[in-house]
Amino acid sequence: SKKTIGIIVGSLRKESFNKSIANYVASLLPAEYEAKFIDISDVDMFNQDLEDNPPVSWTRLREDVKAADAYLFFTPEYNRSVPAVLKNVLDVASRPYGQNVWSHKPAGIVSVSMGGIAAFGANHHLRQTLAFLDVYPLQQPEAYIGNVMGLLDDKGNLVNEDTKNFLKSYADAFTAWVEKF
Ligand code: FNR
Repeated sequence: SKKTIGIIVGSLRKESFNKSIANYVASLLPAEYEAKFIDISDVDMFNQDLEDNPPVSWTRLREDVKAADAYLFFTPEYNRSVPAVLKNVLDVASRPYGQNVWSHKPAGIVSVSMGGIAAFGANHHLRQTLAFLDVYPLQQPEAYIGNVMGLLDDKGNLVNEDTKNFLKSYADAFTAWVEKF
């Protein structure tokens, strides 16, 4: 049966560069995978007081995470870490205690930035959290997409050939990783 790849984009921006790159990578996945974008835009901020009577947005997120066989994360970097919206969904779906729904699944991490350091800080902060959540990110190749504005046309489509080739090899490595589980 088809494997579902849960795609999580750590930016809510309509014209997000991360979303552009995520759409491109999703289009590269072979037919035996279903790419499902997990909506993080409406997930209420984590508050432990709500755990006994969770908001619908939390329940929906946890179901979407549970339904995925693997994850592909696309993250911008905010102040050398992951955006709060992304950290929030990591936290929400890790709870209640003992019911972390992220765990025991493979993942890929792609960090995307306008800057030259390619969101390295966010990429590695995300790895730190995923290590604790018992998610297994692909280690090599790493995917750092820097200076992204120079890689897209004015509609946000990826046009840089080297990056297209790199993302194809990344998608191949990611699906090979997923098949090991
Ligand atoms: C940024 N940006 C940024 N870029 C970076 O490479 N390192 C950083 O630490 C930061 N810090 C940062 C903080 C805040 C609050 C904002 C709003 C932005 C710039 C960031 O890379 C840029 O906004 C990207 O366009 C964000 O990704 P999306 O929204 O295009 O996917």
